[in-house]
Amino acid sequence: MSVLDELTNLELKILPILINNEKNEKGINIDNIIFQSGLKDIEVMRAVQWLSNKNLVTLNEKIDEFILLDVNGKEYVKTGLPEIRILNLIKDSEKSVSQLISEGISMEEINISIGQLKKNLSITLSKNDNNELVLFITENGKKFLQKESLEQKFLKKKFPLNINELLPEDKFAFDSLKKRKQIISVEIKKTITIFITENCKKISSDLSSVSNKIEKLTPEMIKSGSYKDKEFRSFDISSGVPKYNYGKKHFVNDAIDYVKKIFLEMGFTEMKGSMVQTSMWDLDSLFVPQDHPAREMQDTFYIKDPSEGKLQKDYISKLKKVHENGLFGLNKNEIDSRGWGGKFSEEIAKKNLLRTHTTVISAQTLAQLKDSDFPAKFFSVDKVYRNESLDQKHLFEFHQVEGIVIDPNANFTNLLGYLKEFFKKMGYDDVRIRPAHFPYTEPSAEVEVYIKETNTWIELGGSGVFRPEVVIPLLGKDIPVLAWGLGLERIIVPYFGFRDIRLLYNNDFKVLRHSKKWMM
Ligand code: PHE
Repeated sequence: MSVLDELTNLELKILPILINNEKNEKGINIDNIIFQSGLKDIEVMRAVQWLSNKNLVTLNEKIDEFILLDVNGKEYVKTGLPEIRILNLIKDSEKSVSQLISEGISMEEINISIGQLKKNLSITLSKNDNNELVLFITENGKKFLQKESLEQKFLKKKFPLNINELLPEDKFAFDSLKKRKQIISVEIKKTITIFITENCKKISSDLSSVSNKIEKLTPEMIKSGSYKDKEFRSFDISSGVPKYNYGKKHFVNDAIDYVKKIFLEMGFTEMKGSMVQTSMWDLDSLFVPQDHPAREMQDTFYIKDPSEGKLQKDYISKLKKVHENGLFGLNKNEIDSRGWGGKFSEEIAKKNLLRTHTTVISAQTLAQLKDSDFPAKFFSVDKVYRNESLDQKHLFEFHQVEGIVIDPNANFTNLLGYLKEFFKKMGYDDVRIRPAHFPYTEPSAEVEVYIKETNTWIELGGSGVFRPEVVIPLLGKDIPVLAWGLGLERIIVPYFGFRDIRLLYNNDFKVLRHSKKWMM
């Protein structure tokens, strides 16, 4: 597309004027274009700006200060400066203030003039019997009257006067009059001179072939069909536009929607669960020993009221058996599984807490399944809570991306495949796993991705195959269940380029307005 196609009708109107003016090396100013084109000043300003964006003209902005006569100045041009008038009035005999007033000079002018005249020693003052000031002319004053003062001369000039073009004596008069009330004023004037560029000269011969084009389609044009034999103007859609601060979804929510879409497209079903859970579901069902450090108050938020929840009788008795005696407790003797020993406490299992991971939703989902549901795949993206102190890398309330795949034929390699596929869609090409430990998976793996910008691997979550100690009490038999739980915020923060995870939720207007759009 050539520049010619992009010219607006306004630009087309003023370009010939600019090109005609080319011989004039001084350029052309806005007023002249307004005059020659008959357009409004705002239209010319806009067209000139657009031409400059297209690199067809250059603008030269000059700021000038002009001196104008103010109200008193205009008056003094006619009558002369009041100090000169006073000198003339007293040159033959002294005059009192009231006599000067009766000659038509105001009190204010008298006061200013007395100051002026005393300074250049043109008068002396005394008081008469009425205790009134009387002005006498001095020899200096008489000499002063013989030649015209610089100020008086200055007032005879033609205004407006450009400040930059003042002669030295004018400058003196200007400085002195400037201090006095409403004699002169200064106005700032911006003049823009326009010059055409080489680019513009190149296209000038083709300009005549460009006809006025349609820039806007109106209902009338559509009805009458008059647009049909006309050409439409091209628009440069890459040119800058004003920024609008419109309402929009929070960028973390955009990312969550995106994650959900990835799993839905891979055939997963979304699972949901409650934020408040019993320890039984959040921890015991996942074979987390009851004396595990993660259960401490400093790691987990327990609920004060209601502090306890309901236990499912059937299920709790199975959990009691696996926790105390492992699979042997469930009369499954094929694996050497002896449990955690000790006494399983229902008191501990009843305790309500804010879920510490979304793996609790996976356990509850498994509890709902029947044999005929397999194979099946579920995911969730939801909030979890940990009693941790807030810093650059930690939030106490964050999201986990959870997933389970229940399939008699699933294996650990499939798990890696799902994770790689997911992270690839999140913009991470390099994924690796490291051996890890979770009470509920065997084998267990920590997932890490490579960050190019910082040349580091970061840990983004845990994964593994659920242990039979978890699966059997829930499903009644052991089937491979692939599982993972990943930290959403840590996954998305590198994309936004934040160095502090808290920036995601500061709700700082600047961040909200200018943050990168999520890769939809
Ligand atoms: N629940 C673990 C966490 O919060 C992650 C995980 C989920 C690990 C599923 C293994 C299997 O870190």
